[in-house]
Amino acid sequence: GPDACPLRGAAWGAGGGAVALALAFLPPPLLLLLLVVPGGSYRPVVIVHGLFDSPSDFRHLRAFINESHPGTEVTVLDLFDRGASLRPLWVQVEGFRRALAPIMANAADGVHLLGYSQGGLICRALLATMPDHNVHSFISLAAPQMGQYGDTDYLKWLFPRHMKSNLYRLCYTPLGQGVSICNYWNDPHHRELYLNSSDFLALLNDERLHPNASDWKRNLLRIQSLVLIGGPDDGVITPWQSSLFGFYDANETVQEMRAQAVYLQDTFGLKTLEARGDLGGCAVPGVGHTAWHSNRSVYEHCIRPWLT
Ligand SMILES: *[C@@H]1O[C@H](CO)[C@@H](O)[C@H](O)[C@H]1NC(C)=O
Ligand SMILES: *[C@@H]1O[C@H](CO)[C@@H](O)[C@H](O)[C@H]1NC(C)=O
Ligand SMILES: *[C@@H]1O[C@H](CO)[C@@H](O)[C@H](O)[C@H]1NC(C)=O
Ligand SMILES: *[C@@H]1O[C@H](CO)[C@@H](O)[C@H](O)[C@H]1NC(C)=O
Ligand SMILES: *[C@@H]1O[C@H](CO)[C@@H](O)[C@H](O)[C@H]1NC(C)=O
Repeated sequence: GPDACPLRGAAWGAGGGAVALALAFLPPPLLLLLLVVPGGSYRPVVIVHGLFDSPSDFRHLRAFINESHPGTEVTVLDLFDRGASLRPLWVQVEGFRRALAPIMANAADGVHLLGYSQGGLICRALLATMPDHNVHSFISLAAPQMGQYGDTDYLKWLFPRHMKSNLYRLCYTPLGQGVSICNYWNDPHHRELYLNSSDFLALLNDERLHPNASDWKRNLLRIQSLVLIGGPDDGVITPWQSSLFGFYDANETVQEMRAQAVYLQDTFGLKTLEARGDLGGCAVPGVGHTAWHSNRSVYEHCIRPWLT
C-alpha cells in the first residue's frame, strides 16, 4: 500500500542529526503527521512459532528487531505452545486467526507476518482464509511449505515404530490427520493416498479441488511480498528445498519450485507472486533448523530488509 509517511525510512533510520535535518525541511502538513503518529515508523511484526516451540524461543529475533528497528511492536503469538503444537493445523489456524485479527485491526498501515517451521504453514493458511488481512511481507522461515518426507528426531520420538517409508499408513488416516505433522506429511510414493487423505496441505495447495480455492488464492495475493528462507544444512526440513517450494518427485529426486505442478498451474498464487516481482528470499548454507531465528547474519541479510 502507499506510505502514509514517505519520509519514514530516512527520518527514523538515520541518526538524530539527520532526523532534525529532515524535520527542518518538511512542509508543515507532513511535520504534523510525523508528530501525531508516535512510533509509526515500522509496521508491527507478528511471529508464529513452530513445532514444540514457545514465544521464549524468539528472544534473539526480538532483540535483533528492537536493535535495528527501534520502536517496532513485535508479538510472538502465545498459543499452541510446546506439546499443543501437535494439535491439528486447522484447529491452530482458527486460534491464531482470533489472536491475529485485533493486531491487524490496530495496524492502519498493515503488519508483517513471520512463520517459523510449522508456523510458516499456519501463516499461509491464515493468509488464505482471512479475506481482509493486511499483511505486507509474509516471511516463511525454514517452513515445510511443500510438505515433509524424512525421518527426524521429532518423528522417531512421536512414532517410534514408524519410519518415513511406512508413516503414510498412519498419517493418511482420519486418526493421523489429527496430528499436525501428518497434515503436511507428503509421501511421494503414495501420491493418490495423499491427495485423497491430506486434510490440510492438499487443500491449501489446491491439489485436491475444493470450492474455496479461488477465494483462498485471492486472499493470499493481498500480500506485498512472499519471502522464502531455508538452506541445505537445516537438518529437519526434508527435503530442505521444501522451504523454497521444491519437493521430491516419485523417484525422490528434488525438483525445484518452478517444476512443481502447483507453481506451473498457479493453483494458489505462487506463480502470480513471482510474475508480480513479489517473491524474495534466501537459500543459506550453514544454518541448522533451530538456529534460523537466532542467527544474526540470517536476520541482517534475509529478514531485516523486509521489515519496513
Ligand atoms: C529494546 O532496546 C532498548 C534500548 O537498547 C532496551 O532498553 C529495551 O529493553 C529493548 N527491548 C526489548 C524488548 O528487547
Ligand atoms: C482415492 O479416492 C478415490 C475416490 O474416492 C478412490 O477411487 C481411490 O481408490 C482412492 N485412492 C486411494 C489410493 O485411496
Ligand atoms: C469454504 O468456506 C465456507 C464458508 O466460509 C466454509 O463453511 C467451508 O468450510 C469452507 N470449505 C473448506 C473446504 O474449507
Ligand atoms: C523415475 O525413474 C525412472 C527410471 O529412471 C523413469 O523411467 C521415470 O520416468 C522416473 N519418474 C519420474 C517421475 O521422474
Ligand atoms: C549463521 O549463518 C551463517 C550463514 O549466513 C553461517 O555461516 C553461520 O555459521 C551461522 N551461525 C550460527 C551460529 O549458526
